[in-house]
Amino acid sequence: MRLVDTINEMKAIIKSNRAMGKTIGFVATMGYLHEGHLSLVNRSVQDNDFTVVSIFVNPTQFGPNEDFEKYPRDMERDLSLAEAAGVDVVFAPSVAEMYPEKYKTYVNVEDITGILCGQSRPGHFRGVTTVVNKLFNIIEPHKAYFGQKDAQQVIVLKKMVRDLNMNLEIVTCPIIREADGLAMSSRNVYLNSEERKSAIILSKSLFEAEELIKQGERNCAKIVQYLKDKIGSEALAEIDYVEVVSGDGLEVIEQISGSVLIALAVRFGKTRLIDNIMVEV
Ligand code: PAF
Repeated sequence: MRLVDTINEMKAIIKSNRAMGKTIGFVATMGYLHEGHLSLVNRSVQDNDFTVVSIFVNPTQFGPNEDFEKYPRDMERDLSLAEAAGVDVVFAPSVAEMYPEKYKTYVNVEDITGILCGQSRPGHFRGVTTVVNKLFNIIEPHKAYFGQKDAQQVIVLKKMVRDLNMNLEIVTCPIIREADGLAMSSRNVYLNSEERKSAIILSKSLFEAEELIKQGERNCAKIVQYLKDKIGSEALAEIDYVEVVSGDGLEVIEQISGSVLIALAVRFGKTRLIDNIMVEV
């Protein structure tokens, strides 16, 4: 496995692999790898001849009062996990390499980035689409793998790829959960033991909401209220949002039909967690 930190070297490696007719799989990460990331890597290694994983804590997707500085980092551990998983190249550029002085260009997907996480994190998705666009231009993957855990991110990135006629496929992989249901996230490390226990309420109440829908409930407002009451009963939980939207375009809906996304963001102390479930009726 090679560790590459310059765009020129990364591009040269891609050029020679593409010249040999190899298919390129790509997993974008901010590091501090866990089983969720590794499930994406495994899928890429399975599907492609050559897998690149990027590790880059992207400053443009963090707001001024967010956790960019203290976002967990452990490059050594990440490299050994990536190598063991069969990754060919880890691309880990510096901030200056990705955003040199006088950097001016941003990519923005409109409307669907202003709701859900975009409402409480203004500018977040502009940072995500900008960095992912740059990474796609550098790595030129045939397929790029993203987790359903960040449901809105995947929908936004798919829209960007379609709207900008980009030549690649985005593959969505399922959420990986801890044994007690908590969705895996690099930010789970911030939780103290009380918060960690309380956070189980997120997956538990989402699964219960899914069950209510299976039993025939079709009213979105009732599902949202059910989730708010359940989560609100946890003393440490502070709800940011709970929404039921259409599963493909994130449209506000009143009645559940087709594919719907139940998405939520909740704070436990200083840690903001997201989770979701996609339900088909
Ligand atoms: O999901 C993430 O970790 C980040 O948003 C991504 C896609 C790596 C872009 O920085």
